[in-house]
Amino acid sequence: MLDIRIERTNRPKELPGEDNPLVFGKIFTDHMFIMDYKDGKGWYDARIIPYQPISLEPSAMVFHYAQEMFEGLKAYKAKDGRILLFRPDMNAKRTNRTCKRLCMPEIPEDDFVQAIKELVNIDKAWIPTREGTSLYIRPFMIATSPFLGVRPSLTYMFMIILSPVGPYYPEGLNPVKIWIEDEYVRAVKGGIGEAKAGGNYVASLKAQVKAHEEGYSQVLWLDGVHRKYIEEVGAMNIFFKINGVVVTPELNGSILPGVTRDSVIRLCNEWGIKVEERKVSIDEISDAHKNGTLEEVFGTGTAAVISPVGHLRWEDDVMQIKDGGIGELSQRLYDNLTGIQLGEIPDIYNWTVEVR
Ligand code: COI
Repeated sequence: MLDIRIERTNRPKELPGEDNPLVFGKIFTDHMFIMDYKDGKGWYDARIIPYQPISLEPSAMVFHYAQEMFEGLKAYKAKDGRILLFRPDMNAKRTNRTCKRLCMPEIPEDDFVQAIKELVNIDKAWIPTREGTSLYIRPFMIATSPFLGVRPSLTYMFMIILSPVGPYYPEGLNPVKIWIEDEYVRAVKGGIGEAKAGGNYVASLKAQVKAHEEGYSQVLWLDGVHRKYIEEVGAMNIFFKINGVVVTPELNGSILPGVTRDSVIRLCNEWGIKVEERKVSIDEISDAHKNGTLEEVFGTGTAAVISPVGHLRWEDDVMQIKDGGIGELSQRLYDNLTGIQLGEIPDIYNWTVEVR
């Protein structure tokens, strides 16, 4: 159990009003969590302090070799006033898998969840309640040793910041347009694609800028070897409903193992909908579209929740999915997932964790 020192702000910020659109990731709450790590000493000085700039040496290793990881989860205020986290244990486990891969120190799972709970509790007034909003929680770790040699850092900082958010995409639950990338790749097996490392996201920017210029909101990545098998969207995992069967790329070492992905597979299984986790080629999707069996496409992610896909573009093939509207399964998954997250639907899976 962490001994967390608490220093409350004496200058609380004005809360965003209920009519604030809450653009994703722009507003931050009054407090943040920090703890430090030193090789040989371990984690120390866990504290919750006013949200503020941090000071680092320009030689801090994170600036040079990107030894950095992050997580994302959300807190919700239920109608009965309870504050709920969604599967924080999954984020704790994934943090440690990422840290192992990036040669960063692990954090005991209970400490990770405790730090989140205490911070959210202090800033609970910031949890928005309008439909489609939540408090986004961003834990992250950076390498801080002042050193330019390439090796793992000897010191680290682990921090958590909070941001009241609306939908990740300006489209909300309206279908997004997705560009299937044929020039750049995001990750290859053996690399860091399955880790939640900032480096994976910088690798995605070039293609994302290109897709935006063409009027598409996101990029769907193909595997880096054959340039044929579908991987993920970057900010979300991807699902296809083909002829009644839900198909999603298997976790092959270069895809992020999403918490929402896992939850969606579980819900579909419970509902008797067949789910296949396997290799999915772009040709299979294009053929399914041509022969009318591609019924739905949607992305899943903590930030994106369930995000219906209305258009997919693969080279000259522009696929409009059904009528470009929200599919029945996408809507059902969205309603059930957010219903559980908001405590409105009984949580038979024990996914929600109360903050008190
Ligand atoms: C999340 O869904 O929490 C993510 O980490 C995606 C992020 C890049 C916004």
